Amino acid sequence: MSVIGQGMDRLDGRLKVTGQATYSAEHKIPRLAYGMMVLSTIPKGRIAAIDVASVKRMPGVMLVMTHQNALRLPKQKEEGKTEGSGGGKEQSKPDQKKQPPNPKLSLLQDDRVQYNAQPIAVVVADTFEHARDAARRLNVRYAAESAQLDFRKAKMQLRRPEPQPERPPDTGRGNVGRSMARASQKLDLLYTTPMENHNPLEPHATIAAWEGDQLTLYDSTQNVTGVRKTAAQTFGIDPEKIRVVCPFVGGGFGCKGSTWSHVMLAAMASRMAGVPVKLVLERTQMYGPVGARPLTEQRLQLGASEDGKLLAVTHDTVSSTSFVDDFVEPCTAVTRKAYASESLQTSQRLATLNIGVPTYMRAPGESSGSFALESAMDELAYALKVDPVQLRLMNYAEKDPEKDIPWSSKSLRECYRVGAERFGWAKRTPQPGSMRQGRTLVGWGMATASYPANRKGAKASATINADGSVLVRSGTHDLGTGTYTVMAQIAADALGVNVSRVRFELGDTRLPEAPVSGGSQTVASVGPAVHQAARATRDKLIATALGDSASSLHGLNANDVDAADGWLFSKADPNRRDSMAAVVTRNGGQPVSGEASADQGDEKKRYAMQAFGAVFVEVHVDPDLGTIRVTRIVGAYGVGRVINRKTAHSQLMGGIVWGLGMGLMEKTEMDWRVGRAVNANLADYHVPVNADIGSIDITMLDEHDAWINELGAKGVGEIGITGVAAAIANAVHHATGKRIRDLPITPDKLI
Ligand code: MOS
Repeated sequence: MSVIGQGMDRLDGRLKVTGQATYSAEHKIPRLAYGMMVLSTIPKGRIAAIDVASVKRMPGVMLVMTHQNALRLPKQKEEGKTEGSGGGKEQSKPDQKKQPPNPKLSLLQDDRVQYNAQPIAVVVADTFEHARDAARRLNVRYAAESAQLDFRKAKMQLRRPEPQPERPPDTGRGNVGRSMARASQKLDLLYTTPMENHNPLEPHATIAAWEGDQLTLYDSTQNVTGVRKTAAQTFGIDPEKIRVVCPFVGGGFGCKGSTWSHVMLAAMASRMAGVPVKLVLERTQMYGPVGARPLTEQRLQLGASEDGKLLAVTHDTVSSTSFVDDFVEPCTAVTRKAYASESLQTSQRLATLNIGVPTYMRAPGESSGSFALESAMDELAYALKVDPVQLRLMNYAEKDPEKDIPWSSKSLRECYRVGAERFGWAKRTPQPGSMRQGRTLVGWGMATASYPANRKGAKASATINADGSVLVRSGTHDLGTGTYTVMAQIAADALGVNVSRVRFELGDTRLPEAPVSGGSQTVASVGPAVHQAARATRDKLIATALGDSASSLHGLNANDVDAADGWLFSKADPNRRDSMAAVVTRNGGQPVSGEASADQGDEKKRYAMQAFGAVFVEVHVDPDLGTIRVTRIVGAYGVGRVINRKTAHSQLMGGIVWGLGMGLMEKTEMDWRVGRAVNANLADYHVPVNADIGSIDITMLDEHDAWINELGAKGVGEIGITGVAAAIANAVHHATGKRIRDLPITPDKLI
């Protein structure tokens, strides 16, 4: 029986719970010094003076690195001449010619402050406490300038972002004006979502160590290759001289998908101080210099015929960005793929503020965009007096409405059916406020979940040793997602060995190159490479056995031989067999290896690849206090072939829980007078705790996809969060009759 699909415990679980998993800040490096960043306290201006001298006299202080003495970095010579930065995740802005290679990094090359909490100095000391103490006492005087921190004013100067692949600023099909004119039901709705900050348990952390001109970075990242590229560009050195190591990530969620200032600052400080430097962000420092989900304002217009067919959909998004670099929260992406409307128009615009550069946060665009779209669909269902599931079925997109090509697979109809059945949706009475339990208002709401099935090129190698053990390697990452486990399963299955014999190595630029672990693409990208490398190893092993006169398989054709459980055997006569370990041993003990480089073929031109799901939510609302409890969530998903039922379930559940937080709790509270987060800590930044989470029921459908990759697997990292906030908002409406179009849905908005 294949190990694929089994709900195996994660292979790194014991290491993690016993404290033996080495996270970035925990690597033991001799002569290590401690760095602490100092962040700006104004949103815009220039640094007039820094009192370095008094801090330099403090105990243990080795270096105070400011714009006055920081290592001068090579400047970008000409726009467009640099190599692709940060694993393809970074975005660039044309007017940055005088900046260091990556415009979004604040690397102390000048005295300018462009947002509050921008890195302006690094203090290095012999202990963490000395560094922190000195950093807190560093006195900085500013020449402040007036900052743009008013979103309404920023909206008067909207910018159209540079087009990016899969992120066009404007899209359309059909004639929206004409279709809208024929619509008998028209809605024009405005939804807003707040800024949110990433809060992985492990904050950003880097240890930088130079040996001559060789740089090693122990960095908590979703992209070791991206960190290496950014470092090579920043310092103007050969990538081959840089090694990035990251065996464990204590949560990433997008904030570790690109390389931020602190990584380069640690390397600069290490170079200047002449010792390895560890730089860990304090929790408060996670709010500003390392990205955030931007705030969005989304206008949705829906036009439908009397019988519930969508005729026109428009989705116009404004999201906040920074003066340092641009980031687009592509909320319209989900709408372009969602329903079979005869016409559609979308736009993405940017409102620029003196804030840190926003970035990818779990399902960037799809989570915030699905809140607006799926809320609007519920509003339309009420306007038309049809069941919300029915309305979605009536507008089911049988093929990709954007590209007009078939889906590689789509089980959404089945997701609606299974989800509704498990939830008991048929018992719902549509009238708001009609389902009470005593004085508690009960609300049932639902939404569609959706996320693209991404894939990028990846490499892997596999080696089988004389003792029958297998080493599989790829420079990918495990963000707590289960990569170690899933890749071992894929390799074991492809090679025909027991999974307990497989060791998987990841998180090192010395390993075969893998893409950023973002966009839910790790299994679909690295999985095929691992599969192919294991197959290549197996084929070599079989060839070795067939050519070995001492093997019982000698003389057979390769096609006549199969492998399982560490044995090669004749398909015709399974008793005629040879153990893999014996084959390697007789071959002089020389390990047998295979390598692979896997990428998408042209299937993506012929088939649209997307994962879908349906999510159903029950809320209980206290009519006097406006407090909301989510008592039940049922999700049904079509995510292709599931490699590990347990880790995939955990990914979906984690996404759903985050969706609950997005719906009811999460918001970075900015003091817009100064552009600084005031709830920059885990006490005031609310995320769901166990007591906030009711029952979560997840079904992963049996979905076969022949086109997506040889494993048939779509990603599961991000789809879980999509749709949840809308389903909650729709349930709240069903309970109370109130439409809350502004996240999060806090009690004050209900009473
Ligand atoms: Mo994910 S936001 O693409 O790491």
